[in-house]
Amino acid sequence: MSALLEVRHATQRFAGLLAVDDVSFTLTPGEILGLIGPNGAGKTTLISIISGTLAATNGQVLFLGERIDGLPAFRRARLGIGRTFQIMRPFPGMSVLDNVAVGALFRRAGGRAGLAQAREQARACLDFVGMGRHADQRADELGGPGRKRLELAKALAMQPKVLLCDEVMAGLNHVEIDEVIDLLRKVRDQGIGLLVIEHVIKAIKSLSDRLLVLHHGQKIAEGAPDAVLSDPVVVEAYLGKRRT
Ligand SMILES: Nc1ncnc2c1ncn2[C@@H]1O[C@H](COP(=O)(O)OP(=O)(O)OP(=O)(O)O)[C@@H](O)[C@H]1O
Ligand SMILES: [Mg+2]
Repeated sequence: MSALLEVRHATQRFAGLLAVDDVSFTLTPGEILGLIGPNGAGKTTLISIISGTLAATNGQVLFLGERIDGLPAFRRARLGIGRTFQIMRPFPGMSVLDNVAVGALFRRAGGRAGLAQAREQARACLDFVGMGRHADQRADELGGPGRKRLELAKALAMQPKVLLCDEVMAGLNHVEIDEVIDLLRKVRDQGIGLLVIEHVIKAIKSLSDRLLVLHHGQKIAEGAPDAVLSDPVVVEAYLGKRRT
């Protein structure tokens, strides 16, 4: 299958630090690629290079075969690159529903959809992530798990073709993690390609078709989850230091 997203030689230098160092990979429609690695490995930076919130020092990002690395973040979002944020930032003072409606409106800019239609779409996204009953609550009153789901609903309201998820399971209990895994599979079933950053190894192993491991900004392994997780290089760099 042809690549939905292709990253070529992505490199990000922050002063003396190579946060992402010559990373290349592809993502196909309906594929879930897990992105793992120790704290500071460059995972979030890689997502920011793809979504355009960072202008990479070097490398190319192609979406459906076209270069998008010269485009600002909002144009990439409109093309279909969606992301969630590790540090969640709901619009405070606004309802959960309107937080999601902002995404729907943004996507529709240039079209004719009004606020009512955006809210309708937002409601469908909230139902999809299991947050329908919180629609009228203020977004900043949500607890951690609710905010994670809100992040997903906001991203989905923009009707992405690629969804970049930055630790959407962090801080969740086992039941909540399983629910989010089911949710991400349902997203995948729509043909969306997912790049999912996650520290919970059990979860990312069961969810991912492939895994990519970053360490000090470099790709140290990529492939089938079982093979990658038993790779001595990965065990030494990451797994050995943590409980799996
Ligand atoms: N805007 C920035 N300016 C300078 N250094 C940065 C910036 N953003 C990230 N870094 C550094 O780049 C490296 C990679 O950071 P990044 O946030 O991508 O790691 P990560 O793999 O997402 O880690 P975590 O698992 O803790 O979220 C770190 O050393 C970090 O301190
Ligand atoms: Mg991160």
